Order: sequence, then C-alpha cells, then structure tokens
Amino acid sequence: MNERVDDQGNDQSDDHVIIFDTTLRDGEQAPGCSMTLREKLRVANALRELQVDVIEAGFAAASPGDFDSVQAIAEQVQGPAICSLARCHPEDVARAAAAVKPAERSRIHVFVATSEIHRNLKLQMAKEEIIRRAVESVQLAREHCDDVEFSPEDASRTEPGYLAEVVQAVIEAGARTVNIPDTVGYTVPGEFAELFAYLRDNVPNIGDAVLSVHCHDDLGMAVANSLAAVSAGARQIECTINGIGERAGNCSLEEVVMALDTRQNYFGVSSNIDTSRLYPTSRLVASITGMHVPRNKAIVGENAFAHEAGIHQHGMLKDASTYEIMKPENVGLSRSNLVLGKHSGRHAFRERVGQLGFELDDEEINRAFDDFKNLADRKKELFDGDIEAIIMNVGETRPGPWTLEELQISAGTGKIAGAAVRMSHSDGRNINEAAVGDGPVEAAFKALERVAGFSLELRNFEVRSVTMGEDAQGEVTVTVEYNGHSYRGHGISTDIVEAGALAYLEVINRVSRRIESGTDKPAAPSADAAAV
Ligand code: KIV
Ligand code: ZN
Repeated sequence: MNERVDDQGNDQSDDHVIIFDTTLRDGEQAPGCSMTLREKLRVANALRELQVDVIEAGFAAASPGDFDSVQAIAEQVQGPAICSLARCHPEDVARAAAAVKPAERSRIHVFVATSEIHRNLKLQMAKEEIIRRAVESVQLAREHCDDVEFSPEDASRTEPGYLAEVVQAVIEAGARTVNIPDTVGYTVPGEFAELFAYLRDNVPNIGDAVLSVHCHDDLGMAVANSLAAVSAGARQIECTINGIGERAGNCSLEEVVMALDTRQNYFGVSSNIDTSRLYPTSRLVASITGMHVPRNKAIVGENAFAHEAGIHQHGMLKDASTYEIMKPENVGLSRSNLVLGKHSGRHAFRERVGQLGFELDDEEINRAFDDFKNLADRKKELFDGDIEAIIMNVGETRPGPWTLEELQISAGTGKIAGAAVRMSHSDGRNINEAAVGDGPVEAAFKALERVAGFSLELRNFEVRSVTMGEDAQGEVTVTVEYNGHSYRGHGISTDIVEAGALAYLEVINRVSRRIESGTDKPAAPSADAAAV
C-alpha cells in the first residue's frame, strides 16, 4: 500500500480513510441540536480524543456566534484540522479564513449546489456561472489556506457529466479534497459506487485530490452509501456522532468506523479513530444535545451488546464469538454488574469512571465524587448510568447567576398544585416566590419565572429514566423559546419535579446571562407562559 502524509499532515495512504466529523456543523444545524460555545468546546475536545482527522467546527459566516465558536475551537483544540464551511461568496470565504486562522492545521470547505433542481429552482444560475463561482471561491480560499475542500451540493442528483466538469475545474483551481454529498439522502449503494467510479474514470486530474463522501439518512442508507463510496475509492468520510444532522441525520461516525474496523478484511482500509472513545463521545453528545440514542441503535445503543434470547446466552457462555462480532470494550463500553453505594470509596469510584471510558482530572474527580456521595444519600444503589449522568454534568461549573436553594411542592389528585422556591443571585439577592399551576412541574416553572422576571415559551419537555429501579434518577430535557431564540436545559434528580426545575433553571440562567450582558432584552412574564 502507498503510505504518504501530505504537507498539511493529512495521511493520504491508499489504505487510510480520513474521518471528517461534522457534528458541530451539519449535526448542530439540526432542529433541537444547537449547542453553546462551552458545549461545542467540550464536544471538540472529545473529538480530538477520539482522534478524528478533521473537525468541521461550524459555518463561520452564519452568525457572530458561529464565527466565535469556530475561532475558539481553532485556538484551543490541537491535533485535528479545524474546518469552517463557506458558501461560494467572497465574504463567506473571508470569514471562514479568519475563524480558522489560529488553528495549528486549518481547512476551508466551500460549497455550491450543482444539481438541475438546485440550479433552476434555488440558485437560478446557469451551469457556467456555477463553475465560475466555484473556481473563484476555491482560488480565493487557497490564498488563505492550503487545505481547501469543495462540495458540489446535491451531487448525487447532478448530471454525472456536468459533475465531472465541476470536479475537474475545482481541482485545477486548487481543491485538495472533493466531497460528493448525497444532500437529500436519495441515492442507493450500487448507484453511488457507480458515480464514484464514473468520476475516477472521467476526471483526468482526480488523482490530485482526496475523494470524500457525505451522506444523509433520509432512506436509512447513509452508512451503507458511505461504505459503498469507500469501496469505489472515497478516502474521506464525513459523518456525525450518533448520526445527528438535518432531517433524518447524517452518516453515523460510530457505525461507519466500526464497519470499517470489523470488516477490515472486506474494505481493506482503516481510520485513526480510537474506537474505545466511541461510547463516551456518543453519551456526551446525547447528553449535550438532548437527542437520546435509541436503545437498539448499532454500536452505542443500550442493547447493542445485550443478549436476551436463551439460545444466544447459551452460545455466549460457551464462547462470545458465537453471537458477538465486536467486543463491547472495543467501543468503550465496559459495563459491569458492579453496583456502587454510599459506602463505596473514592478509589472504587475513580476505577469505575475509568472503566466506563472517561478520563477526568483530579479536580473533576473530586467534584464528581461529591455529587456521587450526595446521590448515594438519596439512592441505595448506583448503576453505570447514574455514574455517567454525574460525569456528564461535572465538566459544567454551573455558571449562574441564579441558584435554586429550596423547592417545595404541594400537589395531589384533584388539587391545584403549588410551588414555592427560594433562589439566590450571584449579586447577593435572595428571593422567595410561589406560584400555582395545573401540575407540580408547571407550578415550579412559574415560580422560577417570577423570580427571574421574564417568561419562557416551553416547546418541549422530555423525561427519561437514567437507570432502572424505583429510585432511578429521572433526566429532564426542556426546550424553550425566548425572543426568537431556542434554549435547551437538562436536569437530573431522583425526584422528577426537581429534575424539571433544574432543567428550567438552566435555561433561565442562559437567558438571564444574555439579558444581563445586554445581548437580549427582558420580556414581561405572562401568567400562563409555561404549559406542561
Ligand atoms: O449535505 C450537504 O450537501 C452538505 C454540504 C454543505 C456538504 O452538508
Ligand atoms: Zn449535509
């Protein structure tokens, strides 16, 4: 096999597949998946530990917030190339270039749609005009950065002959990677492989660029289509953690990576991914976005390695290879029946955290251990799910300004529910408020809004059990809207009303910080803003 590393540090060996993660761009773009800057940095650091080759950190020209997060990741995350998306507009390219400039290795990814539908109905541009824009944008991007990628959006529905012309022109203009997106999740594996083979046969300079694949999952074939492209010569896969992304999502990183790893004998290529980081990274993204992983999801779902049927259990007891094609520990899942409780010490706790695939520094372990002890006072047995929930929250120092000091609820069948709260503000204020509601959650939300002095529009309220058992912790995720912006908050507690209040407090704090910094303006509280 041909082994070579280009002058940007990218491994271009024939048997190496570059993993380009777009969780923070295409994933974050999906409804309900938006992340704060701190959350994006946490995910970017987890992606670095996972050893992805490229992190698409955002779309710098989309908003000042997007620019800031791409720039912060470029400044703070070393190792992977840091990339920003840009349309074929000079201003977009300039913003992308400025945002990724601080990175140790940077990339600019320019795109324009090429299919007839997009040309006629969206862009109203002729074929030649699109090629001219694509070429000019790639050339401009190359003035700022040596590593430039180009995507013909909706490539899978573009006439192959025209697509080949576009690809040849952008490679001549200096694109080092040419990405072929199945933007609307329309293609099927055989057809997509033929398209890659066609491009390899009909674009004379195709060898001067890395061919990349980017698939959406509208027909449930994003992973299969990406693998078909690899078999047909693609050497970069664009994907997201847990497959989050527009509509049905993108190609799932953990699935495509484990398919290449498990079927190395078939594909003959490998990636740099540290597969033992897949499970913790998946949990982190699920916990930050509130997009929970279905139990039966391949690789990272709760049941992915569970064997229930007697005949399977029998085989497993004889030899795991009878029914297991991957080892759970290879994807970072090291479950045990070991249950921790209030008498478990710091050492046992630290060991379990390590076995679950998390690396915490001393300060984080100390904070997590305090939370563990508090939880152990309320809950007899602590399972892996409880420990994961503690760890997910430990990276977040609760930034305030409000802290919930006390919450009292009165509720009963056929009675109006009431909530009383005592809250402290970082400026020294202590405020008590009470409210009534149709249920205890609504009453608690209204009481919190009264203290904060504004009301939120509740768009979604989700509760799920973190582990099993009567004293299991409940995790509540709320999505609210305030002045046209959407915010998400999480709360975990053995008491689901308290979990709901903590989730609501998180969004109240986010909005309060915007109001106090002058980024947003206060809106008057309404009597029945929160309806649960
Ligand atoms: O799906 C798509 O076409 C994209 C491009 C911008 C690469 O996300
Ligand atoms: Zn996409």
